[in-house]
Amino acid sequence: MSSLNQALRAALDARQQLLSELHAQGTDCYRLFHGSQEGAGGLTVDRYGPQLLVQSFHHTLERDALLDLHGHIERELGLPLLLVYNDRSQGNSRIDRRDPVYQPSEAALADLVGHEWGLNYRVRGRHAGQDPLLFLDLRNARGWVKQHSAGKRVLNLFAYTCGVGLSAAAGGASAVCNLDFAEGNLAVGRENGALNPQLAPMEFIQSDYFPAIRQLAGLPVSQRRGHKLPAYPRLEPREFDLVLLDPPAWAKSAFGTVDLLRDYQSLLKPALLSTAEGGVLICCNNLAKVGLDDWREQVLRCAQKIGRPVREWQVLKPADDFPSLDGQPPLKCLILQL
Ligand SMILES: C[S@@+](CC[C@H](N)C(=O)[O-])C[C@H]1O[C@@H](n2cnc3c(N)ncnc32)[C@H](O)[C@@H]1O
Repeated sequence: MSSLNQALRAALDARQQLLSELHAQGTDCYRLFHGSQEGAGGLTVDRYGPQLLVQSFHHTLERDALLDLHGHIERELGLPLLLVYNDRSQGNSRIDRRDPVYQPSEAALADLVGHEWGLNYRVRGRHAGQDPLLFLDLRNARGWVKQHSAGKRVLNLFAYTCGVGLSAAAGGASAVCNLDFAEGNLAVGRENGALNPQLAPMEFIQSDYFPAIRQLAGLPVSQRRGHKLPAYPRLEPREFDLVLLDPPAWAKSAFGTVDLLRDYQSLLKPALLSTAEGGVLICCNNLAKVGLDDWREQVLRCAQKIGRPVREWQVLKPADDFPSLDGQPPLKCLILQL
């Protein structure tokens, strides 16, 4: 047996209990192989409902190894899965769309539906962006939001495809507002809403984070000297009972820089100010090189400094389909009770 097959076998064995729990809770989207921690760095294998998504980030997988892996998983799970192989080892994590190793079938690339916590999510093996439409390591945070949002006004910042917003709507939130600057991502959020017609409609704000959150928090939107700001949607100040802040590691726009290593505070401050007294802010940092303890201290200090001290905090870890050998998963989530 190849070393990859051995590693895969161990990964599937370790997940037996978790997979039955996930299936019982209405989830069929999960990571089956987390290569960096399970013996094949740069390789991930995810199930998204009817689809099996294999991604390689360091080296291209050979065709035989890919087909072996697919067959192995279908046998272990006892179901057919539509294979998509996204080789992202070429640079900038871009998918090699020439598909020299494996051509996914039309059915595998069609619009599909996956499930998580009993909700329907759009699944697409290929789309304009590089990443899958649902980040699986945030599942526990979505579950927490679903359990704690009854009657709450919820703000989902850097909403991407609005999974957190959808979870809040499913949990009985009184209002859900999703904010992101990418229309394409919000469009998938709208599709996700339409795939769950029993839920109350959500609100979508397409805007850069900085002007939007500053207006919601009642702060002025200032321009740097000599730099005229592009147009941005005008918003009234508003408070929320539950806010989720899950930004990308780094992004630059005309309004500011998202930089989770050097400047978490400028994202955090206005998010804290738009959270109501007694409310909850869930903040995340997915940069592996930022340690949980240091980052948590920074977050607590920042809250204290701006007069919104944290009464209680809790760490929310990704589930066991994202094992971490050193107990320090890249995605860190803090639940702050204000
Ligand atoms: C890593 S995803 C966030 C994941 C998301 N929280 C979730 O629940 O899956 C990053 C998102 O941030 C958005 N984004 C990046 N910079 C932004 C900015 N300056 N203002 C608004 N959205 C931004 C991107 O469009 C993308 O949807």
